[in-house]
Amino acid sequence: MGAVISRLRKRLFQNREVRILMLGLDASGKTTILYKLKLGEIVMTVPTIGFNVETVEYKNMSCSVWDVGGQDKIRPLWRHYFQNTQGLVFVVDSVDRGRICEARNELHRILSEAELRNAAVLVFANKQDLPHSMTVSEITTKLGLHTLSQRRWYIQGTSATSGQGLYEGFDWLCNNIWLCNSITNP
Ligand code: GTP
Ligand code: MG
Repeated sequence: MGAVISRLRKRLFQNREVRILMLGLDASGKTTILYKLKLGEIVMTVPTIGFNVETVEYKNMSCSVWDVGGQDKIRPLWRHYFQNTQGLVFVVDSVDRGRICEARNELHRILSEAELRNAAVLVFANKQDLPHSMTVSEITTKLGLHTLSQRRWYIQGTSATSGQGLYEGFDWLCNNIWLCNSITNP
């Protein structure tokens, strides 16, 4: 069964690009995640003004991952990246208790946008390696994820610096994008 699904997925996604948009408050770890996925390395980052985009090959899928800067002054630019997004990765700094409400508000604001209505939502509860980080279940509650009805969502604890959890999260996201495409393009 697994082999059949794998063959089907290979056929369906051959030469097909999947568009993934990565958003979240500034300093949550988006750029670190992007380059850990792309290069397998930790890069020194500076706050992103504008965006970075990289193609990440994952299980026969070619994911174009857009990482857009999260500082409050440039958040109004996020909407320019929504079109054709199949997967949204929302990154949260798990030690930033002071801004978890702000993260929640931004997430719910984005999810009310029509252009993202079909996007699968993956939340990365990042920086789990740091002491006193909020747990995945605490962040789930604080972000109000259970209130997201009729939305495919998943939350994964991650540490971008060690890579822990990144591929598990991507696995869920790619499977969901694949399933959704199979239903809409049988
Ligand atoms: P903007 O570009 O301003 O939106 O920020 P960003 O979300 O791209 O954050 P960035 O990747 O630049 O990371 C901010 C800081 O957090 C950097 O010093 C990273 O090294 C650090 N960082 C990112 N992920 C982790 C993590 O999982 N654990 C720890 N300990 N530090 C992390
Ligand atoms: Mg950045």
